[in-house]
Amino acid sequence: EKGGYPTFMEKEIHEQPHAVADTLLGRTDESGALILDDLRIPEERLRRVERVTIVACGTAAYAGMVAKYAIERWTRIPVEVALAHEFRYCDPIVDESTLVVSISQSGETMDTLMAVRHAAELGAMTLSICNTHGSTIPRASDAVLYTHAGPEVAVASTKAFLAQITACYLLGLYLAQLRGETYADDAKAVLRELHAMPERIGRLLGRMDRVREMAEFMADTRSVLFLGRHMGFPVAMEGALKLKELAYIHAEGFAAGELKHGPIALIEPGQPVFVVVPGPDTPHDLHRKVVSNIQEIRARGARTLVIAHDDDEDVEPFASEVVRIPPCPPMLAPLLAVVPLQVFALHLASAKGLDVDQPRNLAKSVTVE
Ligand code: BG6
Repeated sequence: EKGGYPTFMEKEIHEQPHAVADTLLGRTDESGALILDDLRIPEERLRRVERVTIVACGTAAYAGMVAKYAIERWTRIPVEVALAHEFRYCDPIVDESTLVVSISQSGETMDTLMAVRHAAELGAMTLSICNTHGSTIPRASDAVLYTHAGPEVAVASTKAFLAQITACYLLGLYLAQLRGETYADDAKAVLRELHAMPERIGRLLGRMDRVREMAEFMADTRSVLFLGRHMGFPVAMEGALKLKELAYIHAEGFAAGELKHGPIALIEPGQPVFVVVPGPDTPHDLHRKVVSNIQEIRARGARTLVIAHDDDEDVEPFASEVVRIPPCPPMLAPLLAVVPLQVFALHLASAKGLDVDQPRNLAKSVTVE
């Protein structure tokens, strides 16, 4: 049942091209409009959404953070991302014009379910992005957009994460379409590029040998830092979470711009730091800014493990290692950049002899508060 792989996690990492492709499959009608599986919100009401609040836990919450950048860029609707357990008890400000989007692989996470129920009581529209048909959260929601990642067995989420991000892109494009405009990027072009992502993820998976070697070489490492900006920030957070969950190593993700406001004090010679570099054509000159962040930590002796696009030569002088990802539009890059971080955590945990499918103290789905 592991399809020839030693662990479910490795199998699921390799299923990611399919998880993304299947989540995109059959999503648009002949007019190009997105199809939600179960929509109990009149389109007229969806058109008038004034704000979006995303509620989720763990990896799903990082998918929500990625979604925020895309949905705000394409719709200019303000998007807030809240950890479901924090949302529930902070007297959230939501009303009839708020779309509360929950993201959950299992559809059974109690914290997320409570947040959805609370949002519904406050009159919000609720939409569930979920991987499990007929589970509790979609049943408690007004609309459902299923991710088609297939069953995910390993406790640490991988393919469901990529499918969640994919579904969030679709939701962003759908909301933009309902409002009759995309403020940035041409929706058709984005969809075209999205359909090209499974092949790129597959290509990337074919070149993970060096990442595996790096992980095995680092089996005794006590701490790893992860840096990213913009959409690379949640990717960095997810990379750190994977390493904590699987390898029990202290790991922390930071927004690269925050470095000089504190975390740079942690840099000492030999400290490994993953840096997620945005593509050279990312808006706001972010590529150059991240390259100078790498330069800063390298000057202080950090071991810089850089994730950069194939054609990005600027990182070479400051990188201890470069992991190359196939070029893609900036907004879609998280679907690629996170993959080496998953593979790294998997192999580092394996090198330590740990059970990667069933890490200590964790459950696949947490059905208590
Ligand atoms: C956890 C799992 O506790 O719940 C994580 O260990 C997961 O992998 C999180 O991201 C949220 O789960 P779900 O099913 O709501 O996506």
